[in-house]
Amino acid sequence: EKLEMERLKELIRSIPDFPEKGVMFRDITTALKDKQGLHAIIDDFTNRYTDKGIDYVLGADARGFIFGAAIAYNIGAGFVPARKIGKLPGETARVEYDLEYGTNTIEVHNDAFEKGANVLIVDDLLATGGTAAAMVKLVEMLGADVYELAFLIELEDLNGRDLLDGHSVYSILKY
Ligand code: PRP
Ligand code: HPA
Repeated sequence: EKLEMERLKELIRSIPDFPEKGVMFRDITTALKDKQGLHAIIDDFTNRYTDKGIDYVLGADARGFIFGAAIAYNIGAGFVPARKIGKLPGETARVEYDLEYGTNTIEVHNDAFEKGANVLIVDDLLATGGTAAAMVKLVEMLGADVYELAFLIELEDLNGRDLLDGHSVYSILKY
């Protein structure tokens, strides 16, 4: 298991100075295209979240959709997309969050969750935690509960966990 995760880490490509100078971009596409890599990622999440009473997986636009839908399918939960503003056709709840330069807004359909629903939040990567904190707010605005937040990668230096006030956080790989 440990060995498998070491191998998985080797499948993540690191690209310097993307999207701007000084940033070391952790590129998951090289792990996704690898048959064993993709399998190892989805299996790890599936093993952790099977039979936990999770009703919905909430995936973050766009890379959270890749893992979120696969996990939801495997554990027998529904999948709900949190989308960047202007993409969802129905009535939405929205939360604005800070980026390095400026802000962004994500939305979820108002009727996505029943009150008290048990929701797993999924994204590919935890950096500053701005996106994840916004997803927690959306779940709570709709009266549902956050079971845990799950990421393939956590960039530990950025302390994203600190924005998630006490919610349980799981990451497969840490940098
Ligand atoms: C990236 C990543 C996370 C978020 C993490 O998405 O996929 O969703 O940033 O950063 P944070 O912890 O500082 O919020 P991005 O907003 O670049 O969107 P994309 O998936 O459409 O590329
Ligand atoms: N890789 C991928 N996505 C990201 C990163 C990164 O290093 N930082 C913020 N979003």
